[in-house]
Amino acid sequence: MTSPEAKKQIHELIDKINYHSDLYYQKNKTEISDFEFDQLLEKLSQLEKEFPELKLPDSPTQRVGGTITKDFPSVVHQYPMLSLANTYSPEELKDFDTRVAKGLDGEPYEYFCELKFDGVSISLKYENGILIKGITRGDGVRGDDVIANVKTIRSLPLKIKSKNVPAQFEVRGEVFLSKEAFKKLNKEQEDIGEETYANARNTASGTLKMQDSTEVAKRKLDCYLYYLLGEENNTQTHEESIKKIELWGFQVSQTYKKCKNIDEVLKYIDSWEKKRNELPLETDGVVVKINNLRQQEQLGFTAKSPRWAIAYKYKAESISTRLNGITYQVGRTGAVTPVAELEPVFLAGTTVKRASLHNANEIARLDLRIGDFVFVEKGGEIIPKVTSVDLSRRDEKLKPAQYITHCPECGTKLIRHEEEANHYCPNEKGCRPQIIGRIVHFIQRKAMDIDSLGERTIAQLYDLGLVKTPADLYDLKKEDIMRLEGFKELSTKNLLQGIEASKSVPFEAVLFAIGIRFVGKTVAEKLARYFKSIENLSAAHAEQLLEAPEVGEKIAQSVFVFFQDKGNQREMARLKKAGLQFESSFKEPEKLSHVLQGKSFVISGTFQNYERDQLKDIIVAHGGKVLSSVSGKLDYLVAGDNMGPAKREKAEKLNVKIISEQAFEALLK
Ligand code: IVH
Repeated sequence: MTSPEAKKQIHELIDKINYHSDLYYQKNKTEISDFEFDQLLEKLSQLEKEFPELKLPDSPTQRVGGTITKDFPSVVHQYPMLSLANTYSPEELKDFDTRVAKGLDGEPYEYFCELKFDGVSISLKYENGILIKGITRGDGVRGDDVIANVKTIRSLPLKIKSKNVPAQFEVRGEVFLSKEAFKKLNKEQEDIGEETYANARNTASGTLKMQDSTEVAKRKLDCYLYYLLGEENNTQTHEESIKKIELWGFQVSQTYKKCKNIDEVLKYIDSWEKKRNELPLETDGVVVKINNLRQQEQLGFTAKSPRWAIAYKYKAESISTRLNGITYQVGRTGAVTPVAELEPVFLAGTTVKRASLHNANEIARLDLRIGDFVFVEKGGEIIPKVTSVDLSRRDEKLKPAQYITHCPECGTKLIRHEEEANHYCPNEKGCRPQIIGRIVHFIQRKAMDIDSLGERTIAQLYDLGLVKTPADLYDLKKEDIMRLEGFKELSTKNLLQGIEASKSVPFEAVLFAIGIRFVGKTVAEKLARYFKSIENLSAAHAEQLLEAPEVGEKIAQSVFVFFQDKGNQREMARLKKAGLQFESSFKEPEKLSHVLQGKSFVISGTFQNYERDQLKDIIVAHGGKVLSSVSGKLDYLVAGDNMGPAKREKAEKLNVKIISEQAFEALLK
């Protein structure tokens, strides 16, 4: 393909991608599937790799990440990022209103109310319509520029399409993980046997600071904007600013309202107290702003916050009840989760009997004693939490709760790995909830998809001694299933059919189903496509595993150890014999060329035109192979800036060709 041809294709693809993005994010509609959308992005990304000089600064491929940032540059805010004064009571809000009236010398004024989104504040700078900086609040004076991560937020315009936008402006808003994205992320954590995250805001904050923007992109951060700043805005009111940024393509939550006076503000606050729970993200209050910008200026700021705005915080619904005991749940990976058993109490529409306590650290932090009265709170999350102990009601005779030392299910002594908060039961093969949990994981929709089988049935099958491992499912006979409670002819037939149908589930899903720690759905897909069969995968040593995309030390080690285990080997052989798919039917996308066929590369250092992952993709797309370490068999070491001296020395000693980024590009020609 010639450069002009590529340029034309790139433009067409960008138009198409932007059209579908707009449709999805601005109008809530779709015309193509996620898969088709990803394919458009993939095609664009390939072309940009081949013709790096044609990559546009606002290319939608930036949404998928690909940047590693070691240290985020610290940037001084052009306008300091202040916080808001908080209030919890209507009286204080009325006092605020009185102060405002006084400050405005009796002039009429209006309020503009918005919900207070519970996320991480961000300041976005645009120059000539292009997003150039995304700065965290930091200490209010200077924050970190996390632009690569910000660009993964799909609802944010990388380039403003409207004409007449100021040459420079700044918008501020809140980056958040929606309740749905947070739930999905935690499900993925469970899938790979990792600890789940406790709350969406902290997770959003941590995500924004991740070094690898590809990881960030997967987590699907989102953003609402609520503040326009800049010298040449020509707006008279906050309302106009909000309408303007909406017009420019920014996502603004449609929950705002202009209010004539403080009574209308109080009504707004009331009207959202319950309704806010139905919103897609967590909110913790209402922000009340003076609408007129000149009046905002007149009221000015204190050292910490504006006098023209205040945050009214909803009281989290909280109630005190007796802690009757602590029970412990054991999960699929053996991780132990303590649960507070509470005297049933009515809270925010439901009766609460139990609350999660997360881990031993949390119990120690709360200094819990069985018999204490504890405060229980229900945030937006479904699971209530214990927030503190009501010390005024503590009976001094109570002793601090002791964490269990042995598994409540099988009696095995618990272990706790260094730097991990959870205790584990190491009795993988003999502990009931771990065994049942593994089978539940195996049959789930994303895995073997046997929907005629549920957790209760699995527990029965286990208790009757019929199923101890996933492979046992494939030996089940009609008469076995008929023994189960509630199973008749038809349900038995359904179950057997479901098990039979799972034999055609693709290798990718089977690999996820077998539950290797740290191998989630995406990693399973990459491994299956890279190694193509279980034979290749199980024979791979850690070095080879590291060469697969998405695989780091932790995953490589876990996969290697899994296949070394004799019991796992027997289980795989049985599953294979039962007829499960152990070979990938995935067809490699066509190569861009074969110029690097048979050549192997190691990439080291940082590059001017490429991210490292991009370079890897280019090599593979042109038929080459990427290795992780230098050996005598290696053809090329592609050396970037700051390459480790050890690699260079080794390559020199072994007579491996060391080439620059430019020399690498020449190989492609
Ligand atoms: S306006 C000068 N509007 O709350 C302050 N802030 O406690 C301008 N927040 O740092 C902020 N929702 O991170 C504003 N609708 C909203 C908001 C909001 C959430 C956060 C923001 C700010 C903090 C202040």
